[in-house]
Amino acid sequence: MAKLRSNTKLKPVKKADLQVVKPVKTTKYSDINLNEWKNYDHIKTDTLWEFPARLKEGGHSNEYHGNYIPQIAQQLYERFTKRNDIVLDMFFGSGTSGIEAINMNRRCIGVELKEDLAESVSEKFTPKQLVTDVNIICADSTTELAKEKIKARLDIMGEEKAQLLILHPPYDDIIKFSDKKEDLSNCATTEEFYDLFERVAKNGYDLLEKGRFAALIIGDKYANSQLIPLGFECMRRMNNVGFITKSIIVKDMQGNERAKGKTANLWRYRALAGGFYIFKHEYVMLFQKV
Ligand SMILES: C[S@@+](CC[C@H](N)C(=O)[O-])C[C@H]1O[C@@H](n2cnc3c(N)ncnc32)[C@H](O)[C@@H]1O
Repeated sequence: MAKLRSNTKLKPVKKADLQVVKPVKTTKYSDINLNEWKNYDHIKTDTLWEFPARLKEGGHSNEYHGNYIPQIAQQLYERFTKRNDIVLDMFFGSGTSGIEAINMNRRCIGVELKEDLAESVSEKFTPKQLVTDVNIICADSTTELAKEKIKARLDIMGEEKAQLLILHPPYDDIIKFSDKKEDLSNCATTEEFYDLFERVAKNGYDLLEKGRFAALIIGDKYANSQLIPLGFECMRRMNNVGFITKSIIVKDMQGNERAKGKTANLWRYRALAGGFYIFKHEYVMLFQKV
């Protein structure tokens, strides 16, 4: 070991010269470093979410009527998942949850009822990604069979349970997604829609790791001159299967809606004449399995 020469003068170290390296502090369900919490300005912690426009980069397109905007997945993944975690989406649609999982180094299992859609969405991923990162299952999410298929995929991916549940169901019959009787957009009554939704919620609950979160993305509807609060009843059904409610976020729909121009004027007229307000929001409701 080198010896200090006797005439070497050591400068006293001032406290201010010491660079304090704080340890990384995270929660059990996210990689956000709480010791650096001021560096996460992009993460929303308020209950009003406004996004100026739908994100189109990063493999996303807007070809599927009824898809959700990728910024929702980005917010949810960063707050409620760790790197490599598995997101389970029981209404996969055009695969927004899967694309964002790849972009953010997460994995995803998506269940979609429509065979043609499940097949075409697969083309958005590479063959390798379809083995290791994104598993797409064509099934009816209300069933025991879907649950068994998800379990088998979890097993292949080396996990027993998923770490985040995403539920973006049809908003009852507002958009008809197919002619299939199992399709939640084809229910004979809204009560039947709630019952089928609850079955999906129960499957999701059983397949989610304890302590982890579920997000329900949903809007309300009008029928027979009255408001039908789909969101609140679905929230109650989430509670029925065991979830506790953590937050109700109101998400601005500007830039997400398709109808503009003449239809917008027609709706404005109808609103003025019928004594109601035009929907400009939907909900992102957060739940936890405790
Ligand atoms: C609101 S969309 C989801 C869109 C998706 N989040 C996206 O960004 O593309 C609802 C989807 O649920 C599917 N669906 C309806 N009933 C289903 C069921 N019983 N099981 C699985 N998927 C179902 C529909 O075909 C539709 O693609």
